[in-house]
Amino acid sequence: MKDYVNWAILAPGRIAQKMAAAMNGEANSAQSKIRLYAVGSRNLERSKEFAAKWNFQKAYGSYEELYTDPEVDAIYIANPHAFHMDCVLAALNAGKHVLCEKPAGCSREQLDKMISLAKSKNLFFMEAMWTAFNPCIAEIRKAIKDGIIGDVTNIDSRFTNRNPYDPNDRNYAPDQAGGALLDLGIYNIYFAMMISNFSPIVSRSSQVRMLKGVDAWNGVNLTFENGIVTSFQSAMDTPSTTGTHDAVIYGTKGFITIVNFFMTEQADIHVYKHKDEGSDNEIAREIRCPFKTNGYEYELIHATDFILQGKIESDIHTFKKSEDLCSIMDSLRADWGMKYPWEK
Ligand SMILES: NC(=O)c1ccc[n+]([C@@H]2O[C@H](COP(=O)([O-])OP(=O)(O)OC[C@H]3O[C@@H](n4cnc5c(N)ncnc54)[C@H](OP(=O)(O)O)[C@@H]3O)[C@@H](O)[C@H]2O)c1
Repeated sequence: MKDYVNWAILAPGRIAQKMAAAMNGEANSAQSKIRLYAVGSRNLERSKEFAAKWNFQKAYGSYEELYTDPEVDAIYIANPHAFHMDCVLAALNAGKHVLCEKPAGCSREQLDKMISLAKSKNLFFMEAMWTAFNPCIAEIRKAIKDGIIGDVTNIDSRFTNRNPYDPNDRNYAPDQAGGALLDLGIYNIYFAMMISNFSPIVSRSSQVRMLKGVDAWNGVNLTFENGIVTSFQSAMDTPSTTGTHDAVIYGTKGFITIVNFFMTEQADIHVYKHKDEGSDNEIAREIRCPFKTNGYEYELIHATDFILQGKIESDIHTFKKSEDLCSIMDSLRADWGMKYPWEK
């Protein structure tokens, strides 16, 4: 029985650089269960360059070679969303465990196929929703449970960037499942789901501004069954004026400000000075949880441990949580009449 996982990276682009840094950070310790094994790209030169930079043993010029290499145990899939399903299904069919970038599926239909194949093949599969493993968010949830801000009432968040319009960029290309919701809004929704203890969503309202087939900007309100309301905006054509992407969790006794909520290392807990009125407050606690490497290591360690234990599903970012997240994005897109080319 192996006590390590030979990891492969499929599609060495922007996010793969971050994961490779996290993998290197972990692989360097003597007891590490993480081995940097292979890289697969459609372009052999890109693969070789990436493998050399990040210390992978093998560089392949196709994804198929990752699937057929018997030494590959698990594949981290990091291409744009629209290509996830084919790669996940191919990897699982080849007997590989899979960690797939978010959103794993562009729709419930796609996600359901992946989960069902992982179950039938008895292989680990997880959407790489790294915020589920964020230590600062775990501290925030604990503080809320301890009652420091009373009952949570609202969660506000913004994740907006102003990207140059490029019809070939995955963010703006409908055939690559572009749009702000699946790229950025997914974090706003999942953050609110975590803070609301995964209470079911019972109502929603939203507005959208479309640009050439994808949502360039959206503003969404969701109500959870436990009464908590979240309001968020995600956008690709609207800058963040603060340079960060922040969230506020309001409660009956105070509020929590979170810097860069989707990759947070820093939050401040404020409590009101007067019970029923006014906004005078003081900071009761500063939460500071610096990442070990860059924040991607936590999901990687979790996936590695679960693979070695022979489990097929995370107990933190479960199949059900991926499914619920995907379903709400499906519902919002349906409200906007937004379909990807293959859905028409
Ligand atoms: N967790 C996070 O914090 C985070 C952050 C950013 C992105 N993501 C997710 O990671 C995924 C990739 O995002 P990214 O920004 O890293 O993407 P990217 O750099 O644009 O592309 C990544 C790789 O995907 C392949 N690719 C790119 N365009 C393609 C196309 N038109 N057709 C087929 N393959 C293509 C290429 O792989 P080859 O080398 O094989 O050609 C490329 O190197 C997305 O699903 C995104 O949501 C997650």
